[in-house]
Amino acid sequence: MSDAKRLAGEKAIEYVEDGMVVGVGTGSTVAFFIDALAGLRDRIAGAVSSSEQSTERLRSHGIEVLDLNACGPIPLYVDGADECDPGKRLIKGGGAALTREKIIAEAAAQFVCIIDPSKEVPVLGRFPLPVEVIPMARSLVAREILAMTGGQPVWRQGTVTDNGNWVLDIHGMSITDPVALEQAINQIPGVVSVGLFARRPADVVIVGGTSPRVR
Ligand code: A5P
Repeated sequence: MSDAKRLAGEKAIEYVEDGMVVGVGTGSTVAFFIDALAGLRDRIAGAVSSSEQSTERLRSHGIEVLDLNACGPIPLYVDGADECDPGKRLIKGGGAALTREKIIAEAAAQFVCIIDPSKEVPVLGRFPLPVEVIPMARSLVAREILAMTGGQPVWRQGTVTDNGNWVLDIHGMSITDPVALEQAINQIPGVVSVGLFARRPADVVIVGGTSPRVR
């Protein structure tokens, strides 16, 4: 799959324009995008990063990393996903960077999602849905999600997000109304964010392959 990821990451470079601040996601597919972005280093205004991991890679290529607060709305966000449905709604957060990813996606005029073909699904939920929680609320949130959805919350032990929080992964769901589920989980006290990108789906999806498919 790494060839498909690389081809998707390289294709996304076509969306980068001179002078842009580029929003950059997290993960192995985005790593290929960052490597390709290095070639445009002197033509872009800089990048806004969704994780310490991506920040490190951007800086290693000499790409300036900017504070989102200093940028206002940004024209482009490029990120991977764990699952993508036909409506371009996503599950993200396998790399635990969901909250910052959601913030940048919201700030961006265009969200280009780069995936390999294994990420395409008819209905979201086969990939366990990540939920970032304030540590003291872990059990409370798990109980409420179990009661609300029937999905099985599993604590991703040992993972601490860049924001100092913990992650629950919700197994065994078939998410037929992702907008409603995103809203409902966001209402639970202690939830920082949920890795459902349905209210703000991707605008463009690039599926990597020898000739990448653009949806
Ligand atoms: C990071 O938290 C995730 O949202 C990633 O975007 C997602 O897990 C995709 O990662 P890969 O590109 O490594 O598959």
